[in-house]
Amino acid sequence: MDETIFSKVDDYLIDLFSLDDDVLKRVRESIKENEMPEISVSANQGQFLYMMAKLCNAKQILEIGALGGYSTIWLARALDGNGKLTSIELELKHAEVAKENIARAGLSDKVEILVGDALKILPELVKDKMLTDLIFIDAEKTQYVSYFNYAVKLAKKGTVIIADNVIREGQILEENSSDEMVNGAKKYNEMLSKSDKVITSIVQQVGKKAYDGMAISIVK
Ligand code: DHB
Ligand code: MG
Repeated sequence: MDETIFSKVDDYLIDLFSLDDDVLKRVRESIKENEMPEISVSANQGQFLYMMAKLCNAKQILEIGALGGYSTIWLARALDGNGKLTSIELELKHAEVAKENIARAGLSDKVEILVGDALKILPELVKDKMLTDLIFIDAEKTQYVSYFNYAVKLAKKGTVIIADNVIREGQILEENSSDEMVNGAKKYNEMLSKSDKVITSIVQQVGKKAYDGMAISIVK
């Protein structure tokens, strides 16, 4: 099968549903200009995240890994009224770019970016008793299980926990991968399969980005 079809269909769907706009285009440009990794979710994945936030009527969203704010904007657009999104970003430069993009999207009043290591910031959010409706994990792949362990402490029954990049072009099938990100994703998936805290559906995804997938979990 010619895999360029995945990218072509992605473009077709983005066009059909008008998923791209000037704000989102500018986010992608800013990521290029600042020589940041071009690994934001695709527009279709953004729409998927937006849908998930709408489905759970999210009032408080937590994102782990903001990068340039692309997925942040998709998720924050799903909030209404007094809804809030908190996003944790390790790199100061990335956080500054994200903040600019979020301001351009008119979402600064809804979004707060916390700069630093998520594993240091998450315990603070637990202490502050933050209660989330949706958590999007998209940061350091080797830390996914640790992020999840904090995520469940910030969750209630029905909280949705979504983790990006858990298929890694199918490399998760490899017995002895030397890729730490693959092993991190594998560990995360295996942990979810054994967890009695959540129910999970792992969705394989194709499109403009490399073949990958998201784990969608609901807290019991
Ligand atoms: C990588 C990270 C991501 O979050 C992603 O969506 C794709 C790739 C990476 O670090 O390679
Ligand atoms: Mg990702």
